[in-house]
Amino acid sequence: MLALTLAPLLLLGSTLAVPAPIPNGGVGVRTNDTAPVYGTMTDFDYESLKLGLYQEWIELDLFNYGVARFSAQEFADAGLNAEDISLIQFMAQQEVGHATLITNMINNGGRQAPKQCTYKYDFQSVREYVAFCQRLTRWGESGVYGFLSHLDSRPVATLLTQSITTEARQQMVFRQFSGAHPFPVHFETGISQSMAWSLLNRYIVSCPAGTPKISWPSFPLLNATNQPSILVDGYKAAITHNRTSLTQAGRNVTFSWEAANKTISADGGYNTTVGGQVNGTQPKFVAWINQLNVTYTPLTLTSNYTGYATQPGGVVFDSTPTNGIINGTSFVGLSVKDLYVTPYNLSLLNDYLVAFNTYQSN
Ligand SMILES: *[C@@H]1O[C@H](CO)[C@@H](O)[C@H](O)[C@H]1NC(C)=O
Ligand SMILES: *[C@@H]1O[C@H](CO)[C@@H](O)[C@H](O)[C@H]1NC(C)=O
Ligand SMILES: *[C@@H]1O[C@H](CO)[C@@H](O)[C@H](O)[C@H]1NC(C)=O
Ligand SMILES: *[C@@H]1O[C@H](CO)[C@@H](O)[C@H](O)[C@H]1NC(C)=O
Ligand SMILES: *[C@@H]1O[C@H](CO)[C@@H](O)[C@H](O)[C@H]1NC(C)=O
Ligand SMILES: *[C@@H]1O[C@H](CO)[C@@H](O)[C@H](O)[C@H]1NC(C)=O
Ligand SMILES: *[C@@H]1O[C@H](CO)[C@@H](O)[C@H](O)[C@H]1NC(C)=O
Ligand SMILES: *[C@@H]1O[C@H](CO)[C@@H](O)[C@H](O)[C@H]1NC(C)=O
Ligand SMILES: *[C@@H]1O[C@H](CO)[C@@H](O)[C@H](O)[C@H]1NC(C)=O
Ligand SMILES: *[C@@H]1O[C@H](CO)[C@@H](O)[C@H](O)[C@H]1NC(C)=O
Ligand SMILES: *[C@@H]1O[C@H](CO)[C@@H](O)[C@H](O)[C@H]1NC(C)=O
Repeated sequence: MLALTLAPLLLLGSTLAVPAPIPNGGVGVRTNDTAPVYGTMTDFDYESLKLGLYQEWIELDLFNYGVARFSAQEFADAGLNAEDISLIQFMAQQEVGHATLITNMINNGGRQAPKQCTYKYDFQSVREYVAFCQRLTRWGESGVYGFLSHLDSRPVATLLTQSITTEARQQMVFRQFSGAHPFPVHFETGISQSMAWSLLNRYIVSCPAGTPKISWPSFPLLNATNQPSILVDGYKAAITHNRTSLTQAGRNVTFSWEAANKTISADGGYNTTVGGQVNGTQPKFVAWINQLNVTYTPLTLTSNYTGYATQPGGVVFDSTPTNGIINGTSFVGLSVKDLYVTPYNLSLLNDYLVAFNTYQSN
C-alpha cells in the first residue's frame, strides 16, 4: 500500500512529504493551516507586548547598572566572584535579544515599539541590588505568564514563551545570589498586566520623545511594613540554602498604602496616576496571590491607609502537604471583595484592587 502511493510521487520527482497523522484538534499544525505571523493582532496584544518590552528595557539597564556601579570587591563581599559578574553581564545581553524580539513582533503588527527609558533605583549595596533584581524579574516573569494564553496571536505567545522561560532562570539565579532557596514553590504565579505595570513604573524617570505610553491602569503601592528581607545574615550567594522560612501561616502582617489619584514619578517626567476602579472604597480583604491560588484574609483597618491581616496557610494540593501556598517572592493586594478567581481569570480581580505589591514570604 505504502509503496503504491509513494511510487507516483517519486516518479514525478516531487519532494512532497506525506503528512504524518495528526490527532484531531490542535491549531496551526497542518500544512493547509495559515502560516504563522509573528505580529500583534489586536490592541490587547499590542498593550501586553508593550508592557513586556518596557520590562525588558529596565532589566537591560538594571543588570548593566549594577555591574558598573559596584566594584569587584563589593561583589566579592556579597559572595559573588568574577564569573558571577560575567553571568549578570550575559543576562544583560539576553535582554538585548528579548527586546529585539518584542520590538520586531510589535513592528510586524504595524505598531510603534517603546524605546529604552532612564530609571532610578534605591538600592545601596550589592546585596540590596541582587535582592531587587530577584523582585523585578519575579514580577516581569509573572506579568507575562498572566497574559500569555490570553493573547490573540498564538505565534506571538510561542516566541514570548521562549523568552520568558529564560527570564525565569534569571529570577532563580538572583534568588541564589541573594542567599535564598532558588524556587521554594511548585508553581510560578501569573499576575495581570496592571499588577506588573504598577510595580515597574515606579522606577522610570523619563522616556525618549515619542515612546508610546502604557494603557494599563496602575494600582497604588501597598507596603507590607513588617515584611522580612530576603537577605539573611550568614546566608550569602549559593546554589541553595536550607535556612528557615522567613514567614509562616498565622503571621500578623501590617500594611500601609498609597492614596489613589496620586501622580508618581512626576519629578522625572514619566507621570503615572495610580488609581484602579474602586475610587476610594475601603479595602476589606488582603488577597495573597501565589502559586495557583488567590487566598483572602480579612483586613483590619487601623486608619484610612493602614491596617493588618493574618498570613494564610493552606497547601496547593493535599498530595503535597509541604507545599504551602505562600512561599518565595509572592504577591499581595488589598481588595474590596473576596472575589473567587483561578489562574486563567485572575485579571478579573483588577476591578476590586485598592493597592498591590510583592510580599517577601521567603
Ligand atoms: C485541512 O486539511 C484537513 C485534513 O487534512 C481537513 O480536515 C481540513 O478541512 C483542511 N482545512 C482547510 C481550511 O482546508
Ligand atoms: C514600607 O514600610 C517600611 C517600614 O515602615 C519603610 O521602611 C519603607 O520605607 C516603606 N516603603 C515604601 C516604599 O513606602
Ligand atoms: C533541609 O531541609 C529538609 C526539609 O525541608 C530536611 O529534610 C533536610 O534534612 C535538610 N537538610 C539539611 C542538610 O539541613
Ligand atoms: C497585629 O498587629 C497590629 C499592629 O501592630 C496590632 O494592633 C494587632 O493587635 C495585631 N493582631 C494580632 C492578632 O496580633
Ligand atoms: C509630568 O508632570 C509634571 C508636573 O506636574 C509636568 O510638568 C510634566 O509636563 C508632566 N509630563 C508629562 C510627560 O506628562
Ligand atoms: C473610577 O474612576 C475611573 C476613572 O478614574 C472610572 O473609569 C471608573 O468608572 C470609576 N469606577 C467607579 C466604580 O466609579
Ligand atoms: C479619583 O479620580 C476620579 C476621576 O477624577 C474620581 O472619580 C475618584 O473619586 C477619585 N478617587 C479618589 C480616591 O479620590
Ligand atoms: C478617612 O476617610 C473618610 C471617608 O472617606 C474621610 O471622611 C476622612 O476624612 C478620612 N480621614 C483621613 C485622615 O484622611
Ligand atoms: C489551589 O489552586 C489549585 C488549582 O486551581 C486548586 O486545585 C486547589 O484546590 C487550590 N488550593 C486551595 C487550598 O485553594
Ligand atoms: C517554603 O518552602 C521551603 C522550601 O521547601 C520550606 O522549607 C518552608 O517550610 C516553606 N514555607 C512555608 C511557609 O510553607
Ligand atoms: C474564575 O474561574 C472560576 C473557574 O475556574 C470560576 O468558578 C469563577 O467564578 C471565575 N471568577 C469570576 C470572577 O468570574
